[in-house]
Parts: sequence; structure tokens; C-alpha cells
Amino acid sequence: MTLPSVLIRPAHPVDAVAIVGLLDPYVAEGIVLPRTAAEVSASAGDFLVAESNGLVVGAVAVRDYGHYLVEIRSLVVSSAVAGQGLGSELVAAAVGLARERGARRVFALTLRPGLFERQHFLQVDRDLFPQKVWADCIHCPKRCRCDEVAVALDLNSAAERAERARSAAP
Ligand SMILES: CC(C)(COP(=O)(O)OP(=O)(O)OC[C@H]1O[C@@H](n2cnc3c(N)ncnc32)[C@H](O)[C@@H]1OP(=O)(O)O)[C@@H](O)C(=O)NCCC(=O)NCCS
Repeated sequence: MTLPSVLIRPAHPVDAVAIVGLLDPYVAEGIVLPRTAAEVSASAGDFLVAESNGLVVGAVAVRDYGHYLVEIRSLVVSSAVAGQGLGSELVAAAVGLARERGARRVFALTLRPGLFERQHFLQVDRDLFPQKVWADCIHCPKRCRCDEVAVALDLNSAAERAERARSAAP
């Protein structure tokens, strides 16, 4: 990442308004699903934020579906710092959080599969995740013309272990 002084840290309830402020412009464009400040505050433990000079400039969340399956969602980076690797760093950090929570498979529905493929996610059939469809997609205005791609990463697969070893190398 080329951005100096960016810290990725667990979110606190007080970050909720800033997180919603980052998401809202993309909600209006139909790129991310709407989240209210109350929802984000109540589930702050599922969010990571990127902070730079005291400002929240990025966020990502995980959702645990049980059965060792975790979704990465609500990924957003401020347009002021986009294109400098922060989105990819947030995906990697969310995978780390999913691993800490015991996930064996991490997935996302995304318009930006490249962000995930750089972290060794593979494109998969969206129908593999009926839980997501029932939780979110049925409320989505685009549900009958969904243009998102499903991506998944099996933790502890050979590729994922190799990437972790590469990242840990000095
Ligand atoms: C999508 C979003 C989170 C990306 O954040 P970002 O900080 O710009 O992400 P990065 O800088 O890591 O990557 C952006 C681009 O830089 C380039 N890039 C970054 N790292 C790269 C690398 N190692 N090698 C080659 N290209 C790279 C790529 O073109 C990449 O675009 P791609 O992922 O579509 O291939 C941000 O644009 C955003 O908030 N968009 C609106 C909300 C949204 O779309 N959320 C995602 C829903 S899943």
C-alpha cells in the first residue's frame, strides 16, 4: 500500500456515522447495500476501519453464517484515497478476522472481483450461498438483474497457505 499512516483497526460504535457516510454515496448508486448507523453501531464488532490522520477512510465487515462460512461485506474506501491499495488491504484484513472467527470458507458478492482474486479468491457459482440470497438479496432492488460475481476463498487451501507464508516472509 502506498498510503502512509493508515491504520486498519477494529471499529467502535462511535465509528458508525463515519462508516455510513462512506457507504451512502455507493448505496445511492446501487453498488453497496444500505446500512443504518444504528445497525452498524450495534454490529461494530464485525467491522474493521481504516483510519488516516484521525479520519475513517475505509471500512469492511464480516458476517458469520455459521457452519464455518463468513461473508465479507460493506467494503468501501473513500474516493480521496482510492486506487492506492487500501481496498485490497481491507479485504486481506477481513480474511484475517474471518480466520480468527474460525471460518473455513470466506465469500463475497462483488462488482470488483479483482480485489478478491488478488487475495486468491476464486469466482464461484452464486447459488452456492443461498444464505446470502435469503438474508440480503431478496431485499435488493437489483435481485432479478444481479450483476455481482460470487468469489470464495477456502482457508487453509494450498494456495492460501502459500500466500500466508509469502506475506509472513521478511
Ligand atoms: C472497490 C473499492 C473498495 C476499492 O478500493 P481501493 O482502495 O481503490 O482498492 P485498491 O487500491 O486495492 O484497488 C483498486 C484498483 O487498483 C489496481 N490495483 C490495486 N492493487 C493492484 C495490484 N497489486 N496489482 C494490479 N493492480 C492493482 C486495480 O486496478 C484495482 O482495481 P480492481 O480491484 O478492480 O482490479 C473502492 O473503489 C470503493 O469503495 N468503491 C465503492 C464501493 C464498492 O464498490 N465496494 C465493493 C463492494 S464488494
